Amino acid sequence: MDLTEEIKSRISIEQLVAQYVVLKPAGRNFKGLCPFHQEKTPSFMVSKERQIAWCFGCQKGGDIFNFVQEIEHCDFKEAINILAEKAGIDVASTDFSKPSANFSQTKEKKEILSEIHEEINKFYVDQLWNTEAGKKVLHYVKKRGVQDEHIKKFLLGFAPDSFEDSYNFLLKKNFQKKDIISTGLINSKDTEGLNIYDKFRCRLMFPIKDSQNKIVAFGGRALKKDQEPKYLNSPETEIYHKSKVLYGFNLAKDEIKTKDEVVLVEGYMDVIASYQAGVKNVVASSGTAISEYQIKFLKRFTNNFVFCFDTDSAGQEATFRAVEIAQNLDCNIFIVQVRDAKDPGDYAISNPSEFVDLIKNKIPYINFYLDKIKKDYDLNSLDDNKKAQKIIISLISGVKDDWEKDVYIGKAVLILNMDKKHLSGKVDNFLVSKKKLQQNPQKKEETEDNSLKRRANMEALEYILGFDDILALNLESFIDVIKENPDLDLEEHLKGIYNKIIEYYNSGAFVHEISKFSFLDREQNQYLKIIQLKLSDSSFTQSEKEQIFKKAISKLQDRANSKKRLNFKQNKDFSSIEELGNYCKIVRY
Ligand code: UTP
Ligand code: MN
Repeated sequence: MDLTEEIKSRISIEQLVAQYVVLKPAGRNFKGLCPFHQEKTPSFMVSKERQIAWCFGCQKGGDIFNFVQEIEHCDFKEAINILAEKAGIDVASTDFSKPSANFSQTKEKKEILSEIHEEINKFYVDQLWNTEAGKKVLHYVKKRGVQDEHIKKFLLGFAPDSFEDSYNFLLKKNFQKKDIISTGLINSKDTEGLNIYDKFRCRLMFPIKDSQNKIVAFGGRALKKDQEPKYLNSPETEIYHKSKVLYGFNLAKDEIKTKDEVVLVEGYMDVIASYQAGVKNVVASSGTAISEYQIKFLKRFTNNFVFCFDTDSAGQEATFRAVEIAQNLDCNIFIVQVRDAKDPGDYAISNPSEFVDLIKNKIPYINFYLDKIKKDYDLNSLDDNKKAQKIIISLISGVKDDWEKDVYIGKAVLILNMDKKHLSGKVDNFLVSKKKLQQNPQKKEETEDNSLKRRANMEALEYILGFDDILALNLESFIDVIKENPDLDLEEHLKGIYNKIIEYYNSGAFVHEISKFSFLDREQNQYLKIIQLKLSDSSFTQSEKEQIFKKAISKLQDRANSKKRLNFKQNKDFSSIEELGNYCKIVRY
């Protein structure tokens, strides 16, 4: 048993709280005046059953550790020591594995998940270099211009064309089925977790490392004709958060610091090719657009950002979005665009030294856009000039620094053939109307409406999860809800729980165990217990509870249907009988 479990087994929440608060029985729970805020009528509840204490007035409490943290104003470690002492456990001399490893179950779980990734990658690397099928893939990679040294450096591998090789390899390494499933490396067709198969088959594997240099996910490139998608990525897991990880960062970190600059590209291949060409301060987001989090993270190492994205229109759009984010964070932004190649990867492979020069001659972003506008528009035509103005005004209005803004306006007026005062005025007006738009009453109503919907969703879901005994008996109706509503609008905590449930369900784990919620982390578990506590305080009869539960389920099902209806209305024309039929089916439902 780990230390926290040992302490929990010796100290009950009701005993602990009773040392600070006068508790009176209230149904199946206890009630008292909250120790964390001033109150006259008790809103502090303690549940013996769920081992949790919570104030519904000031929203403070939790399990025994949280309670001590809150009341003694200490951190988790200190709370453990205080409670261990109360429980008569000698932490120093007892044979508990190091307490830090036991603080949270999730930490241990995370370690196992990353170990699985490390092991499976050894397997993929071996498959690439030492099997017949793998050698063909190796040949493909080399032919694309990646040298052995870099194939090794980036730990590229090959997932064989098999439904069970990866899974079997991991079983032989003595990993547990449930842990393997949680990595997302394995899919399952049925809900019992019986029919299990490898997710990555016949793919060139790019291991993705986190900032601690641990493999946390994979991107797998298709190798066969018509194999979809082109890149298959690991799903979000406890150790992989797409919008937080940067591909290549582990190798780029030092170079980013020494060069005081980071180059951002779009793809895995771009990172490798750029690195091979000698531009080693390079990273990419994996499978998504670059996020604010990623830029903030990189800002810890440098404030100079070079965006070097694909040359297609998607790449242009991605650049514009990245610029907007970086502007908001006050970064120095530069843009590089390769010519006569679809992306920096292809360019860097065929022209490595030119690529190095291109990066050296990076262009400050405003100059880049001014040049581009000169090329793309006929600025003597009134129409084109107005279009160009719009782009420039929107860009310049994002500049934080007034002096910088003034410099850019000075440059822009020369190209647009405008008066400086005139353009400044337009930029100011743009900012004013942007602010107004944010306060636009129509918009506000819309968001209020959305927030009401969100609240209704939350309430319905709380009734479903909170009545866990009823849920256990009605799992199927709940599973219908999660299938129909994969992205239900919810606030952060509940959204996290909901996503975990979906992930658990999709992993093919044992469905009848959903209502045990063993897959939630400690914080989520507590959140759920608080909901359950809240509901247990209400004086509903069993049959009332059942009715409420059913209503909540059908509310969420309605939600899915009205969403579908909306999508149909927005996206479809009803000229074909078939579309109309589909629409009617949904509406009638
Ligand atoms: P690209 O299609 O540009 O691929 O997607 P690439 O990296 O240049 O690879 P090659 O040179 O064609 O082999 C850029 C990035 O977008 C993500 C991947 O992270 C990829 O590296 N992506 C692309 C996906 O996640 N899924 C896809 O289906 C396609
Ligand atoms: Mn590309």
